[in-house]
Amino acid sequence: MEEQQQKKIMLTGDRPTGRLHIGHYVGSLRRRVELQNAGGFDEMYVMIADTQALTDNAGNPQKVRDNVIEVALDYLSAGLDPEKTTIFVQSRVPELFELTCYYLDLVTLSRLERNPTVKSELQMRAFNNESIPAGFLCYPVSQAADITAFDTTIVPVGEDQAPMIEQCNEIVHKFNSMYGETLVPCKIMLPENEAARRLPGTDGKAKMSKSLGNCIYLSDDAKTVEQKVKTMFTDPTHLKVEDPGHTEGNPVFIYLSAFATDEHFARFWPEYKNLDELKAHYERGGLGDVAVKKFLANVLNDVLEPIRQRRHKYEENIEEVYKILAEGSAKAQAKAHETVMRVRRNLGLNYFENRKLIEKQQKAYNKAHKEEEARAAFLAKQKKN
Ligand code: TRP
Repeated sequence: MEEQQQKKIMLTGDRPTGRLHIGHYVGSLRRRVELQNAGGFDEMYVMIADTQALTDNAGNPQKVRDNVIEVALDYLSAGLDPEKTTIFVQSRVPELFELTCYYLDLVTLSRLERNPTVKSELQMRAFNNESIPAGFLCYPVSQAADITAFDTTIVPVGEDQAPMIEQCNEIVHKFNSMYGETLVPCKIMLPENEAARRLPGTDGKAKMSKSLGNCIYLSDDAKTVEQKVKTMFTDPTHLKVEDPGHTEGNPVFIYLSAFATDEHFARFWPEYKNLDELKAHYERGGLGDVAVKKFLANVLNDVLEPIRQRRHKYEENIEEVYKILAEGSAKAQAKAHETVMRVRRNLGLNYFENRKLIEKQQKAYNKAHKEEEARAAFLAKQKKN
């Protein structure tokens, strides 16, 4: 336990409900790859949360199933290396569901309903007259199992996941105080900058979302990216080139701050040294949106090209990708099994491995049998007399 607590272990995951887009990339994927390559963690796990995806897609398991491979392709093409990061599929590690069951007894219904992420979803469903699957209500508990099964210390996720981490740590503390030090508490790691926290959609809406059709996908080809950027929402008050423009809240500039480096300027637009200079010109007036968008498309395609190339290679060998997932899942299961054994031991459910328990119970029965025999012998003797 002491040793485990000193280890730095990272775990995070995504629901496989669609291909990943550049919002996922700047919000989390890019960071994971950087963390992986910096080598600061003892163990790294990235999970495809298919079981969690089913909590609100029970009617469409094919969608979840078909997106497992898409998310795996996105991970690998973004640069996650299965040699360094264990990539696995949630449902293939059933130990997680055993932990979930034990944790469910430590959480009240009202606490679950108060979880802000769950709460807003519940309200939306109530509004739409939709009922709520119990599995959905309980998914924060299952997420606590995902995290604790690996003795995770760091969970890189978006702000919307903060209530999950908080609830996970509540479960950890409750478990440890009831059954002794068993589970490791974790810390959230939020995205580093504002643009990365929430990349808006190409239509300027607050969030990229498949259902709004405002996403640029990691797997989009160069022409598609160019086309999507061309039709992007910008500053609606910037009508003529001479007009002064607004960069704040302007999705084109938000994307640029998330992606454009000084090198990109040197290569594609040497008239400006960096984004600050470009912004100053746009705000002054005299800079048209077409030129800025052309630059953004160049920047995005420069970032996405190596990702597309890697994806293409993996797409030619789907069987190999499933093999990577199978091997990762076996590795994850071995680790989760150790945690489950520790949990069972501290709960006292380790019947078959607990020699002391077996001997103690045997002794008690032996003693009882002996007493019974003695009593029977005594009664028999009394009868004779
Ligand atoms: N809830 C996360 C999401 O919707 C996915 C997830 C499941 C996760 N289990 C996790 C993230 C454990 C971090 C740790 O994106």
